[in-house]
Amino acid sequence: MKMTGNIILITGAGSGIGRALAERLHDRGNRVIVAGRRRELLDEVISTREGMAALELDVSDAGSIAAAVADIETRFPELNVLVNNAGISRPEDLTADAWDSDLAEAMIATNVTGVLRLTAALLPSLKRQSNAAVITTTSGLAYVPLASYPTYSATKAFLHSWLQSLRHQLRDTDVEILELSPPYVQTELGGPQQLTDPYAMPLAEFADEVMTLLESGNTPAGEILVDRVMGYRGAEREGRYVETFAHGNAG
Ligand SMILES: NC(=O)c1ccc[n+]([C@@H]2O[C@H](COP(=O)([O-])OP(=O)(O)OC[C@H]3O[C@@H](n4cnc5c(N)ncnc54)[C@H](OP(=O)(O)O)[C@@H]3O)[C@@H](O)[C@H]2O)c1
Repeated sequence: MKMTGNIILITGAGSGIGRALAERLHDRGNRVIVAGRRRELLDEVISTREGMAALELDVSDAGSIAAAVADIETRFPELNVLVNNAGISRPEDLTADAWDSDLAEAMIATNVTGVLRLTAALLPSLKRQSNAAVITTTSGLAYVPLASYPTYSATKAFLHSWLQSLRHQLRDTDVEILELSPPYVQTELGGPQQLTDPYAMPLAEFADEVMTLLESGNTPAGEILVDRVMGYRGAEREGRYVETFAHGNAG
């Protein structure tokens, strides 16, 4: 991926991984549009950064996507990079009589349908740009599920599969399809305690390693994989799946 001079839309960029990547990409001379639902977070991100723009967007809402895409086509017709990063993660107890599929459907709407809708809406214009790219944030849990997060893990496995097909279908275009699979990282994805969880990778360390991989073009088969996620990424093909699943789901 070209690392400077892009116009980049990042969803879920008011916090966590999206914000950290937005700041680093802005530092490298890219025009960055940060998107999410909470306006106050977006305003804070752009407040000290000239040329950054904020866009209110709810990726689980088709109307919100349509409005945002219309806005982008007017204000940023040369947008050439989409980062599908917004996501939600909730535990589910499938053994509870009270379990119903509402939470699962909400995760699918944001993590899966939101990515498909936004990608579908922007692909026609991305295909007209040179050096276009779509980066989508999946997870190490795409490869080995965390059983207490069944639907969340499955949404990321869906994206991992779908992205391979998208990449293959677009192989003769100028649109690069990249998958970013974070390990467990210090953000508020799973609640405020995750920000300081010593088992989670520090956010700045993660984002810096991602930038190094992108800058060096070290994205084999379109995958952006920091060292910490390799245990999960390689579990199946290295014959460690059963142990990795057992270790990840111990207790
Ligand atoms: N942190 C980890 O351990 C980890 C590991 C693997 C993968 N990931 C993935 O990394 C991505 C970023 O998560 P994070 O860890 O940085 O957590 P985060 O700080 O909670 O970021 C998630 C972002 O998504 C946005 N978002 C949620 N629902 C949205 C919607 N319907 N429309 C638009 N934006 C929405 C949120 O902003 P608003 O609420 O303001 O909309 C928030 O800024 C997610 O896809 C997550 O699954 C994280």
